[in-house]
Parts: sequence; structure tokens; C-alpha cells
Amino acid sequence: MLKQNGVLVGLALGALVITGCTITQQTVSEEEMGLRKTTLYAEEKTVADPTNYAKSVAGESQVLGRAFENAPPMIPHDVEGMMDITKDMNMCMDCHMPEMAAMVNATPVPASHLASFRPLTQYVGGEFQKEGVLVVNTSDIKTALHSREGLSMDRFTCTACHAPQSDNAPLVANQFSPEFRSDTGATGNSNLLDVLNEGVR
Ligand code: HEC
Ligand code: HEC
Repeated sequence: MLKQNGVLVGLALGALVITGCTITQQTVSEEEMGLRKTTLYAEEKTVADPTNYAKSVAGESQVLGRAFENAPPMIPHDVEGMMDITKDMNMCMDCHMPEMAAMVNATPVPASHLASFRPLTQYVGGEFQKEGVLVVNTSDIKTALHSREGLSMDRFTCTACHAPQSDNAPLVANQFSPEFRSDTGATGNSNLLDVLNEGVR
């Protein structure tokens, strides 16, 4: 009974609150709808801001601050002529693999890119094996950290995570302000592999 009374009191209070305030109906015009500022009926009047990627060639650009600790740094230099990344060609690796990076003054890929968290999958004698076990029965396989001789193929498509940036005014203001654990967190080297179990901020 007590509980029921409680519900009744709650309902009564709710009714008071609803009747006590004026409900204003906010309407949004078609011009204001969405991030573009043109009517939905005039596609031809809707022109996106021109994309304005960095023009500085690699070696002459300034690195950009990271969005948060151990976030993938965005590409500060022009990538004209470096794309597409194909199965047989990845120009990013030419400068960013550790053995090359020092020579061209590029940031080397971090240790995390030379390791893999995926189960080691191999094609052996016509069969797929995960961690040495036939793929047909993989349920009990635990994912281990595998060191790689070179770049982990999990990282081959650099631009899935690292992208050039256009300097357009943002459509929506960014309210997020990151906290870095060290003073060099925004522009210093990344160390995800070392702090993996501490989490990111
Ligand atoms: C000709 C060598 C060269 C090539 C090719 C190249 N880069 Fe770079 N990259 C650099 C250099 C040098 C820097 C350091 C900034 C500078 O001096 O311009 C840099 C900086 C970066 C950074 C920022 C690193 C940081 O510390 O914040 C990222 C990310 C990056 N490049 C990704 C790429 C990707 C992805 C590709 C392929 C699309 C690529 N780069 C191709 C030389 C290169
Ligand atoms: C799956 C996403 C992903 C892919 C693919 C990827 N990266 Fe990264 N990259 C990251 C993240 C996240 C970090 C920062 C954290 C870390 O791993 O240390 C990073 C860091 C870097 C850094 C900064 C290193 C430092 O010490 O500051 C460079 C340079 C870089 N990556 C280059 C590359 C290149 C070149 C490729 C392609 C060969 C590539 N990355 C592919 C996610 C990725």
C-alpha cells in the first residue's frame, strides 16, 4: 500500500509540475535544419566549404596536437602523390618505418604498429590456422600480443586512422578538452603499448 501511495503522490506532483509550466513549442525552419544553412528543397544552392588540406611538403610541416592522449596523430603534410595505398605500394612506410624515419626526419611508427593483438592466423598446407589450431575450432583461443618482424598488417592502411586535415571553420564547436598525463602528451611521441593497461584519457 505504501508503495502505491508513493506512486500516487509522484503522479500528483508530476501533474502539478506539468500544469505549472508553459510548454513552448519550438519550431525549426527548413533553413535551420541540419548543419547546412540552405533549404532542403534547393540542393543546387547547397555548396560545401572547399576542402583546404595542408600544402606543406613532408619535411616542412608542423606536427598537429593530438586530440587526446595516445590518439593517432593527424597528417600535417601534403599527401598529394602518396595515395592510394595499395596491396603492393604504401609510400607512408617509405618514410615512417623506423629504419627510414631518422633519415628523413619523420616520426617513426610507434611500437604498437610492430605488434598485433589479433590471433596469429596463418595459411598452412591449404588450411587456415589460428594460433596453430585449425580455424574450424577456434572457440578456446586466447588473443596474445604478437611481436612482428616489420609492420603489422593490421596497420597497413595508415589513412584508416591518420588523415590529412582541412582548415575549414568547424561546423560544430568542439567542447572536448583533453587531459594529458605528461607535458609532451599532445605533441610528443606516443606510447600506447607501454600504457595499454592504464587506459587513455
Ligand atoms: C617523403 C617522406 C614522407 C612520406 C612519403 C609520408 N610522410 Fe608523414 N611525415 C613525414 C615527416 C618528415 C613528418 C614530420 C613533419 C614534417 O617534417 O613535415 C611526417 C609527419 C607525419 C605525421 C605526424 C606525426 C606526428 O609526430 O605527429 C603523420 C601521422 C604522418 N606523417 C602520416 C603519414 C601517412 C599516413 C603517410 C602516407 C599517406 C605519410 N605520412 C607519408 C614524412 C613523410
Ligand atoms: C588502426 C589505426 C591505425 C593505423 C591503421 C595506423 N596507425 Fe599510426 N597510430 C595509431 C594510434 C592510435 C597511434 C598513437 C598510439 C600508439 O599506438 O602509440 C598512432 C601513432 C602513429 C605515429 C606517431 C608515433 C609517435 O611516436 O608519436 C605515427 C608516425 C604513425 N602512427 C604512423 C602510421 C603509419 C605510417 C601507418 C601506416 C603504415 C599507421 N600509422 C597506421 C593508429 C593507427
